[in-house]
Amino acid sequence: MKFYGKVKVKKVEFMTEDAFKMVVDRPNDMVIEPGQFFMIKNVELHPLLNRPISVSSYNETEIEFGIKIVGTGTENFSKLRVDDEIFLMGALGNGFDLKKEYKKVLLVGGGIGVEPLKGAAMELNKMGIFTKMFLGFNNECFDIDIFKKIANEVITFSEAENKADFIGYPTDILNDELSKSDYDAVFTCGPKILMKKVNEISKANNVETQLLLEERMACGIGACLGCTCETVNGYKKVCEDGPMFYGNEVNLNE
Ligand SMILES: Cc1cc2nc3c(=O)[nH]c(=O)nc-3n(C[C@H](O)[C@H](O)[C@H](O)COP(=O)(O)OP(=O)(O)OC[C@H]3O[C@@H](n4cnc5c(N)ncnc54)[C@H](O)[C@@H]3O)c2cc1C
Ligand code: FES
Repeated sequence: MKFYGKVKVKKVEFMTEDAFKMVVDRPNDMVIEPGQFFMIKNVELHPLLNRPISVSSYNETEIEFGIKIVGTGTENFSKLRVDDEIFLMGALGNGFDLKKEYKKVLLVGGGIGVEPLKGAAMELNKMGIFTKMFLGFNNECFDIDIFKKIANEVITFSEAENKADFIGYPTDILNDELSKSDYDAVFTCGPKILMKKVNEISKANNVETQLLLEERMACGIGACLGCTCETVNGYKKVCEDGPMFYGNEVNLNE
């Protein structure tokens, strides 16, 4: 049963100039899988503006989101304060497939796309699966202390100097990493260009890729057909059939 109602905001904290985390109350019995998303509204500022946001991390009482401000909806979320109420619908869609047979998973994130990988790393860790994270940023890195607590190894990349372990992109050393080690899967989330390269490099190394697709969404529940994408199995709705797709199913070219 999906939750559909209001919850209280517990925290809004900026991580960079235009990216912030928002923590809200988790209703009882709400089922959440990493990679799933919620449709969220700031009921006070804009009761009609619904926006899809992925789950970042969660525990029994709280859900955390990592959000980048790109327009009115996300800016409205950044203005929320403790004890304000937001409208949540979810958790929606199909998240990452956490296979019991995995022994070693590489998680590759870019920008705000590092956030949905947090929940995945948390769950893989609980299952005793080794996780390494490649986290890419265009300037300052964020949440690294938290990632270091939940993953076995974390390597950071930044386009700016003196901000991370490497200057550049996670894909710069991905081929080396995959060719010298025996990964069962690569999970990725971030800009389409990053996921496309990750998918190509993983494919060349015969490693399965799971990625989180993003499309503009109006309903979030499969009703409006606004989020369709082309796959090898025909057109699919990102909100209902995804947002997790296997790399060999989707075309990331456009
Ligand atoms: C399943 C899913 C999960 C998401 N998870 C997160 C998350 O965890 N954190 C986060 O910060 N963002 C996430 N997003 C993206 C987020 O939904 C959009 O940034 C948000 O809807 C923009 O709303 P806005 O009103 O602020 O901007 P708008 O005014 O609607 O748009 C501002 C600009 O962003 C572009 N844009 C808006 N939405 C998208 C999109 N989905 N894909 C590509 N470009 C877009 C527009 O074309 C425009 O140029 C997710 C999207 C999807 C579909
Ligand atoms: S957002 Fe309406 S069908 Fe996917």
